[in-house]
Amino acid sequence: MPIRLGFYVVSPFRGDRFYVRSFLDSMDTFSAPDIHSELTEQELQLSLEPDLMPRHVAIIMDGNGRWAASRGLPRIAGHREGLAALREIINFFDELSIPILTIYAFSQENWNRPRAEVALLMTLLEQFLQKERQTFQDRKMRFLPIGRLNALPISTQAVVNDVAEETAHFTDRVLTVALSYGGRSEIIDAVNDLLEDARNGKVSIPITEGQFEQYLTTADLPDPDLLIRTSGEARISNFLLWQLAYTELHFTKVLWPDFRRREVLLALLDYQKRDRRFGRVSQTASSQRGS
Ligand code: FPP
Repeated sequence: MPIRLGFYVVSPFRGDRFYVRSFLDSMDTFSAPDIHSELTEQELQLSLEPDLMPRHVAIIMDGNGRWAASRGLPRIAGHREGLAALREIINFFDELSIPILTIYAFSQENWNRPRAEVALLMTLLEQFLQKERQTFQDRKMRFLPIGRLNALPISTQAVVNDVAEETAHFTDRVLTVALSYGGRSEIIDAVNDLLEDARNGKVSIPITEGQFEQYLTTADLPDPDLLIRTSGEARISNFLLWQLAYTELHFTKVLWPDFRRREVLLALLDYQKRDRRFGRVSQTASSQRGS
């Protein structure tokens, strides 16, 4: 259902409603005309501006269940295909030289899913890490798990911690995986650690934003430049609440298992159209004013 930006008028005669379109409807998050839709993947890639590539992209991978349901398959099949999409995206980011990718693989709320689905997601994660272990080394890529990791099953914790440890020294490429993650609990955990340090005289108050960031699980990373969410939902669902303050948001209706190279290129081209001002006056606006 597209987002409506016009208005409704109630007919005085029949009592029914008419929708009056507004020009803003054409700017609807999901149905804006896509000027790139005719281009091939290669043409899309060539349209990218190398100087405007994001350094850090975060993704909420949503829609596995619906992808499976639309094919009459169990949800589990959607997660398997979702993992295939993830592998493709990791490889493509490498090709595009985007150094940091952060994915929301399992939220704190996801513990409320059926036990079998949770178990399958944990197994998929373990298999993924075992299989990609060597790839992380070959690509000099850090695997950085964030979230309340001690809530994970012991076997999952073991492989998660092992791969994190053996890749901790890599700095040029990072795959951050949010597991049993919630943005509010991350902030609360940071506040509690900070209070502990203040009590022990390790930090003096008041603190700065920069100091606070050092208590977050993403302490060493720049904030995401771009957040992508698939499946038509337009919310951030407790993901990276602090870190997304100035991030550009890209929402697409495409379900995660269908989010492949072409969709990445469309998201990047959308990102490159944005005027990132961080609260300042834009370059163009200020030069037009002669300042
Ligand atoms: C959301 O789709 C997706 C998840 C909760 C899990 C994400 C997992 C993967 C992409 C595959 C496995 C990846 C790793 C790293 C193990 P949904 O199930 O909420 O879909 P729905 O909204 O259509 O039901």
